Amino acid sequence: MQTMIGVIGGSGVYEIDGLQDAVWTKVETPWGTPSDEILVGKLDGVAMAFLPRHGRGHVHSPTSVPYRANIDALKRLGVTDVVSVSACGSLREEMAPGDFVIVDQFIDRSFAREKSFFGTGCVAHVALGKPTCPRLSAACADAARATGVTVHDSGTYLCMEGPQFSTLAESLLYKSWGCHVIGMTNMPEAKLAREAELCYASVAMVTDYDCWHPHHDEVDISAIIATLTGNAQHARNLVAGLPQRLGAERAPCPHGCDRALDHAIMTAPAK
Ligand code: ADE
Repeated sequence: MQTMIGVIGGSGVYEIDGLQDAVWTKVETPWGTPSDEILVGKLDGVAMAFLPRHGRGHVHSPTSVPYRANIDALKRLGVTDVVSVSACGSLREEMAPGDFVIVDQFIDRSFAREKSFFGTGCVAHVALGKPTCPRLSAACADAARATGVTVHDSGTYLCMEGPQFSTLAESLLYKSWGCHVIGMTNMPEAKLAREAELCYASVAMVTDYDCWHPHHDEVDISAIIATLTGNAQHARNLVAGLPQRLGAERAPCPHGCDRALDHAIMTAPAK
């Protein structure tokens, strides 16, 4: 099977360097229109698709991002591996602004989003104990390290609804739960990628210390944008390092991400 890497770029990541034969492609889905057209091309002989999560011009809030359409559109294009790149706040002293965290767990506190492709008509319950793909995550960690940034190989991401940032009490609560970073967009994206039988990895770029840190100002957008701008090139270099690490040919996922529905569907087949 051919690899196709789908990159969902968050704030600050709006392009892929050196993508050959790149074409912005319109995709429609039964779940609606994705956040934007998808830039499809090849990098080092590997097919790639790039989708700006918030749309070009940043028109979608974390709540209004059409998560189901985005994942379905990538699936329809033939994407096998989804790499999410997003900004996050840090809930840990040792995860400093500028660091990259390869997220491997989530606590989903979002509440105003469609979270499943399944429901009335066809019911399915996919496993989510390991919500990210270890193989794809390792490739991301390796590619990130090669760019020279500090990389944390695991971390729990608290997904909040937003768009407001947390209160101090919430930030301290999430710290006490053992979370490492906080953001607004990785859920339900990760859940939907699993339902779509896609490998999913999340690269979270730390932009701030949220509001819990006694020696840092409260988070604000100008500080986030300043850190993101400084990191955008690292993120783009990370993406550029993925084709050589994943290769053009793809074996079945050793962790079973691409077979997630094998034992998940409850509804009897139509007679
Ligand atoms: N994205 C970047 N920083 C964040 C924070 N502190 N909280 C939620 N989302 C964020």
